[in-house]
Amino acid sequence: MHMADSYNIASARAHSNIAFIKYWGNRDPLLRLPANSSLSMNLLALHTTTTVRWSADLAADSLTINGEAANVAALRRVQAHLDMLRRRLGTKLRAQVDSRNNFPMGAGIASSASAFAALTMAAVAALHGQLAERELTTLARLGSGSAARSIPGGFVEWQAANAHADSYAETIAPADHWQLADVIAIVSHQHKRVGSTAGHASAHSSLFQSARVETAAARLQEVKQALYQRDFAWLARVVEADSNLMHAVMMTSAPPLFYWQPLTLAVMEAVRNWREADGLRVCYTLDAGPNVHCICAAADAQAVAERLADLSPDIDMLRSGVGGGAVVLSASE
Ligand code: DP6
Repeated sequence: MHMADSYNIASARAHSNIAFIKYWGNRDPLLRLPANSSLSMNLLALHTTTTVRWSADLAADSLTINGEAANVAALRRVQAHLDMLRRRLGTKLRAQVDSRNNFPMGAGIASSASAFAALTMAAVAALHGQLAERELTTLARLGSGSAARSIPGGFVEWQAANAHADSYAETIAPADHWQLADVIAIVSHQHKRVGSTAGHASAHSSLFQSARVETAAARLQEVKQALYQRDFAWLARVVEADSNLMHAVMMTSAPPLFYWQPLTLAVMEAVRNWREADGLRVCYTLDAGPNVHCICAAADAQAVAERLADLSPDIDMLRSGVGGGAVVLSASE
């Protein structure tokens, strides 16, 4: 690597996030302007580390994921993101992108949020761009909506809006505001058949989507208050309701999307029971897949993990506390 190359290289790390109020459906799919505002918690233990090298010597953009050449679909999506960043940063250079997740790819845990957050941070840093966090969140959003929420730290709100610059994400409480944990019950390692991007596109075909969207802002305000007051019972009620509403939309879309498996429902019922009958501070939320995120008070995470293990030998687990924001790990001077 010669001098010019070492000048244009940077690495960044971003955490995955789990939504308490879900993003499902876009008002503008190309700009990824969401139908409703959403709110999430960053996951400390799950992250993507991405290195971007911009160089005049490259004939084309390239992408490796966990050390292996990415498939064409992943490469195209990253190229489209790089095209957008090239326009914003005023460069024609091609990029070599190396992305690594510290969590198993086949676990059905979304990696697009941490991936596009880390890619955006690294790509901008490698060109020595000085962009405000707010703009970085809007740029990450163009790659994957939920990636906007992986740029700021802790508990993050992403604004729905009609214009690109107004649909940004920001921290509403830092990571240390509340010791929560996510015990992820992995009930299936199968790759999801219908991904989020296709799911967003069909959300409007459900009769229930408009009702979900119209009431989302009120739920978001409740989750925010429950977070500020550290009121777990309140948080649990609204987080579960919001997840149920999104899955009701999914199941009633054309074509219908059923992400739940028998073990998914068993975990959901057990979680509600552990909370209501046994007093554990735990609730569930699900993304576009069968795995159950058990959001709990950190002090109850061990008990939740033990109970999940007792429930079925077929459940694998990932555990995480609350994570900070995306960071640049190294940039040449
Ligand atoms: C169900 O952000 O993965 O996880 O913008 O098409 O990349 P794209 O979708 P994505 O959608 C996330 C959907 C969800 C809910 C959420 O995280 O808010």
